[in-house]
Amino acid sequence: MKTIALKLHFKNYPIHVGINLLTKVPGFLQHESVSRKIAIVTHPELVTMAQPLIDALTEAEYTVAVQTFPSGEPNKSMDTVMSLVNGFVENKLERRDTVIAFGGGVVGDTAGFAASVYLRGINLIQIPTTLLGQVDSAIGGKTAVNHPSGKNLIGTFCQPLFTIVDHTLLATLPKREVKSGLAEIVKYGVIGNAGLFKYLEAHVDRIAQCDVVNHTDLWAHLITRSAADKAKVVAADEKESGGRELLNFGHTIGHAIENAFGYGAYLHGEAVAIGMVGATRLGEQLKLIDGKTATRIETLIEKLGFDMTVKSTVTPDQIMKAMQTDKKVRDGKMRFVVPFGIADAEVVAEIPEATVRDIVAGLF
Ligand SMILES: NC(=O)c1ccc[n+]([C@@H]2O[C@H](COP(=O)([O-])OP(=O)(O)OC[C@H]3O[C@@H](n4cnc5c(N)ncnc54)[C@H](O)[C@@H]3O)[C@@H](O)[C@H]2O)c1
Ligand SMILES: [Zn+2]
Repeated sequence: MKTIALKLHFKNYPIHVGINLLTKVPGFLQHESVSRKIAIVTHPELVTMAQPLIDALTEAEYTVAVQTFPSGEPNKSMDTVMSLVNGFVENKLERRDTVIAFGGGVVGDTAGFAASVYLRGINLIQIPTTLLGQVDSAIGGKTAVNHPSGKNLIGTFCQPLFTIVDHTLLATLPKREVKSGLAEIVKYGVIGNAGLFKYLEAHVDRIAQCDVVNHTDLWAHLITRSAADKAKVVAADEKESGGRELLNFGHTIGHAIENAFGYGAYLHGEAVAIGMVGATRLGEQLKLIDGKTATRIETLIEKLGFDMTVKSTVTPDQIMKAMQTDKKVRDGKMRFVVPFGIADAEVVAEIPEATVRDIVAGLF
């Protein structure tokens, strides 16, 4: 097991990375001042996978309640938060009791938000079971649910007691979901980790298979490096006032694609992969990155098996419109995270709309 220390302003917490960690949770809890009640929040289809955790906690004399809600982005809602809080009340959770978020980003964000507002905040543990959760959403303390008029509009910062990253939990994850999480790993390589980028290039064929069961060493390496990268960026910019913006590489166009098609047509990482291609071409157009390096980035994304073009059921104009309403547009000017090289990226502001329009049109 490896432990990554996430150092924040008021609090440090560990991210334990390794295998078969569920049974070790009671041991990790011994270092925390927590009471004996625990609510595990998950989806119904993940309860079997959580059983070793439930058993270990019960054996260690915790009172465990399992609270489930159906999977899917539409359930990342205030209605779900209310039903979770009702469960906390019913299970008599008190200030020093604990919520464990066991699932993907939807569980992490929703259970995290509920735990952060119930009794003005009770203890939280994040146990991500998707690749996206393990390398991104369960690290950094952002929680949120959706509002009918926009994604993630209601949220808090809520740092967990600890996060468990165990790649054996990914064995049942559909390959399409694995590939979606892989887009975030590529992102870490481009924005700040040349070693990770080279590793992706060197093992591209095997990584493209998204076989987390048979290529364990490979995925353990990718996940550990990426989780550490996310922790580093978060530590430098806990409340997202500056450096954390680099994590939006590929996300300006990516979010616009997700929005324009409606949630579900594209998985998040599938849209981000196209967004990374767009942002790289933008860098080339603005002469901020040389053609050879830009091609290297595009080639990696292509060889990893990502679809590089946007489906033609929407128009470039619809993507442009979706981009105008994105949180990343400030004062009507377009801001993009643009790669200048490998492991070298910056936020570029005031990009002319016509330039962006050209790039977006080229993605169809
Ligand atoms: N808080 C943050 O910093 C942050 C960062 C990035 C993304 N997010 C959020 O994360 C969410 C997306 O998360 P996601 O990609 O993990 O999707 P998800 O949580 O919807 O999970 C995807 C699907 O995989 C299933 N699943 C989960 N683990 C499984 C396993 N081990 N085996 C089989 N099936 C499994 C789930 O039931 C679900 O159907 C979005 O709502 C996004 O806004 C949050
Ligand atoms: Zn993302």
